[in-house]
Amino acid sequence: MTPLTKILREKIEKHGALSVHDYMEAALSHPEYGYYTRQNPFGKSGDFVTAPEISQMFGELIGLWCIDTWSKLGEPAQFNLMELGPGNGTLLADALRSGALVPEFIDAAHIHLVETSDRLRIRQKAALSHPSIFWYSDIPDLDNGPTIIIANEFFDALPIHQYEATAGKWYERFIDWKDDQFAFSVDTVSHKTLPPPSDADSNLILEICPQGIKCLNSISQSLQKFGGAALIIDYGSANAIYGDSFQAVRDHTIQNPLVDPGMSDLTAHVKFPQLISEARKYPVDIHGPTSQGRFLERLGIEARAALLKRSATEEQRKTITSSLRRLTSAAEMGTLFKVLAISSGLTAPPEGFDL
Ligand SMILES: C[S@@+](CC[C@H](N)C(=O)[O-])C[C@H]1O[C@@H](n2cnc3c(N)ncnc32)[C@H](O)[C@@H]1O
Repeated sequence: MTPLTKILREKIEKHGALSVHDYMEAALSHPEYGYYTRQNPFGKSGDFVTAPEISQMFGELIGLWCIDTWSKLGEPAQFNLMELGPGNGTLLADALRSGALVPEFIDAAHIHLVETSDRLRIRQKAALSHPSIFWYSDIPDLDNGPTIIIANEFFDALPIHQYEATAGKWYERFIDWKDDQFAFSVDTVSHKTLPPPSDADSNLILEICPQGIKCLNSISQSLQKFGGAALIIDYGSANAIYGDSFQAVRDHTIQNPLVDPGMSDLTAHVKFPQLISEARKYPVDIHGPTSQGRFLERLGIEARAALLKRSATEEQRKTITSSLRRLTSAAEMGTLFKVLAISSGLTAPPEGFDL
């Protein structure tokens, strides 16, 4: 039994079943035994590979997207470049390298990183050499100018509540300890504040991510007040509202999320319609969601791959081709991953989206 299993089992025995939210939060962020506290999750030797770890092209193109957005903000002499959940710092390191094509952009940038894991903060420090970088545990209130925000695979790592629809009511799902293992259970009292489901929704699962909703509100509020843009890249459906997407990945394989909490990455698909409806509470512009594949193609990933191949060895050329496929093809990350932008105060829409 892992130490976190023991801690959570004792908690359940003392205080009753845990919400999916509290279980997921502990499994990911427990100060001693949480997944992001104690593991090196990314890359071939980790449990999963994110887009910036697949290829430098991903972060480089996002760097160019940021330059373009900064220029559509009127090239402010000072702006905030914020990344949520920067992981190893790879995306930002690649983005700042391509950002260096425009020295005024780099000089104007104040970098702000929102990261809860001390272990990953150390990696980010090592990966990034910009002179002005600040770290936070939560999205800060910045009032010194416009902000450009990047969030790749951040929202999927935030804990969710799950609710089951039965006979026109929502009942919260819990995680209990039974027969020497964790097991799902359902509340006996229905949830009062959610709008009731219709009879046709019976047995559906609704997932709500309070922290994601809070982040979207802070982001939209800041964009409305000071201008800027947020680029949110994550996996999930552009339209679906319902569905059980709570899952665990360990060693590149899907696992049972109720086994060995803290040892595998727990995620839930991002509900883009929920994020959009939060953003719509503010006078901001919404672009997408579009698929990651289309977004990267519109930013010119094929031309970038061709350029990189010119000075590459045969082996490197093969890697560039396979990375391009992984990032853009519908059979890999191209369709499952979506890109959403929220902006305010831009002279033209951000790049990468249908007009
Ligand atoms: C799936 S990783 C993505 C890393 C990186 N963006 C990438 O694409 O490689 C999730 C990141 O979000 C961070 N994170 C998770 N929950 C967080 C929270 N509540 N607040 C801030 N960062 C968080 C993790 O520590 C990690 O850096």
